[in-house]
Amino acid sequence: MSLKEEIEKRRTFGIISHPDAGKTTLTEKLLLFGGAIQTAGAVKSNKIKKTATSDFMEIEKQRGISVATSVMAFKYQGKQINILDTPGHKDFAEDTYRTLTAVDSVILVIDCANGVEAQTERLMEVCRMRNTPVIIFINKLDREGRDPFDLLDELEEKLDIKVRPLSWPIGMGMDFKGIYSIYQNKLNLFSANKTKIEEDIASFDSVDDPEIDKLVGEDKAAQLREELELVEGVYDDFDRATYLKGEVAPVFFGSAINNFGVKELLDSFIEISPNPVGRETSKGLVEPNDKDFSGFIFKIHANLDPKHRDRIAFLRICSGTFERNKFYKNIRLDKKLKFSNPTSFMAQDKSIIDEAYPGDVVGLYDTGNFKIGDTLTEGEDFNFKGIPSFSPEIFMELENKDPMKTKQLEKGIQQLTDEGVAQLFVQQPGNRKIVGTVGALQFDVIQYRLEHEYGAKADFRPRNYFKACWITTDNEAQLQQFLRAKTGNIAKDKDDNYVFLAETAFLLSSAQQDYPDLEFHTNSDFKVEEA
Ligand code: G4P
Repeated sequence: MSLKEEIEKRRTFGIISHPDAGKTTLTEKLLLFGGAIQTAGAVKSNKIKKTATSDFMEIEKQRGISVATSVMAFKYQGKQINILDTPGHKDFAEDTYRTLTAVDSVILVIDCANGVEAQTERLMEVCRMRNTPVIIFINKLDREGRDPFDLLDELEEKLDIKVRPLSWPIGMGMDFKGIYSIYQNKLNLFSANKTKIEEDIASFDSVDDPEIDKLVGEDKAAQLREELELVEGVYDDFDRATYLKGEVAPVFFGSAINNFGVKELLDSFIEISPNPVGRETSKGLVEPNDKDFSGFIFKIHANLDPKHRDRIAFLRICSGTFERNKFYKNIRLDKKLKFSNPTSFMAQDKSIIDEAYPGDVVGLYDTGNFKIGDTLTEGEDFNFKGIPSFSPEIFMELENKDPMKTKQLEKGIQQLTDEGVAQLFVQQPGNRKIVGTVGALQFDVIQYRLEHEYGAKADFRPRNYFKACWITTDNEAQLQQFLRAKTGNIAKDKDDNYVFLAETAFLLSSAQQDYPDLEFHTNSDFKVEEA
């Protein structure tokens, strides 16, 4: 098969949701349809159980299990589907943001009773940063939820994206009768079905079929026809090009646990979602069918067992063909590396692969060479853009508790932050280390790992910063003036960029006023979202 055909076959996407909306359940049902698993409940997903929030070792164990499910690949209707799993737990939001840089599209799961929740908004912001095409699945229609039109309004308003329903529910909760697929012009009647793939569900060719009245009742049938008319009146026709630009999100309804609406979602997904797309680099756009291989590392997973300090680096292939045992260049290290055991992830099985193509994710065994964001190429010097860091929410100063182990501590904190467990800011001038995370859990993880993997003892002292803001400017003199004036609140990030650690929103806005030529960014993707 040619490279072009391999690319056209691939669909690489992520499923995201606020915890509990049904991401795990939907993932599992998609795998069932793809034949990648045989029974429901087989996926030990990345999901971190609520009960485990205070027990990080338990969480790490679950994260360990999740290596196998970090990427779930399966074949469906001649397509190669790669689902990139994202942790649902909010403390691991950074992981999710980074994974979203490696996908070509996203399915967003919404609970029909809860609508748009806090985490949903953050995740959508990240998708919008790169105009990632999004399909929305409104889940749990077997439960009492909110009015579909209200939900759609809320999606548009809170997620700042236009929506276009491609299926429509008949009733909800106890009253839920089925789904009309606007996209396929079909009606499927609901039958609660938790374990099997749906089959023998009645389908019709048109919403005007009088048989529908018999099956769902005249009232419900009339309501459906009325609502569909309204849908057609209110929403523009679905336009794939607009979806691919990330400007409109098609919406599907269903009940993942009952396998309902999932096949419609998957079938439409296959048709409309993008193949692997080109990616911005320091030398311009790299297209998947460029002959030379290139890719980047978006995730590193450490082995928690101190006897096996190996890690798995997840490589997203962006162009060309990746081959086993061939030398590729790590641009940051200016070093050629070859991989004798690259692994692919077919559902729960890991297997060694000889070749992989754009859109695929390959696991590379790593002894500490890689950093998140590293670019690998066939030799040419360029870097992929945009694996942004976001301002952490919690900041702590790292304190060395054992001066005899200073070296180990330095190495440990460096490696852990390279892995993306947390962000490290080094105060300027000086060497005080400020560790920033999205969730409190990471500090336990860091402390434990520093001790058990590196033999270093550390403590954390809370620092009350409001935001870390990356600074850019063309006015070097003003920057120097600012750096002098704000000594104590200036740090450098892992890539030696200047960061302003602002204690309050007020101090940040006065800095913006007093130093008009400086730009303050709450993420390191400087072109986008400004503070
Ligand atoms: P998440 O990964 O987004 O966090 O959500 P997950 O799939 O784990 O689903 C959260 C809960 O919602 C689970 O129940 C799951 O069974 C339920 N659920 C998922 N889809 C549907 C649906 O279509 N209808 C209904 N009624 N429930 C649904 P749980 O009690 O938290 O867990 P479990 O004991 O069932 O595993």
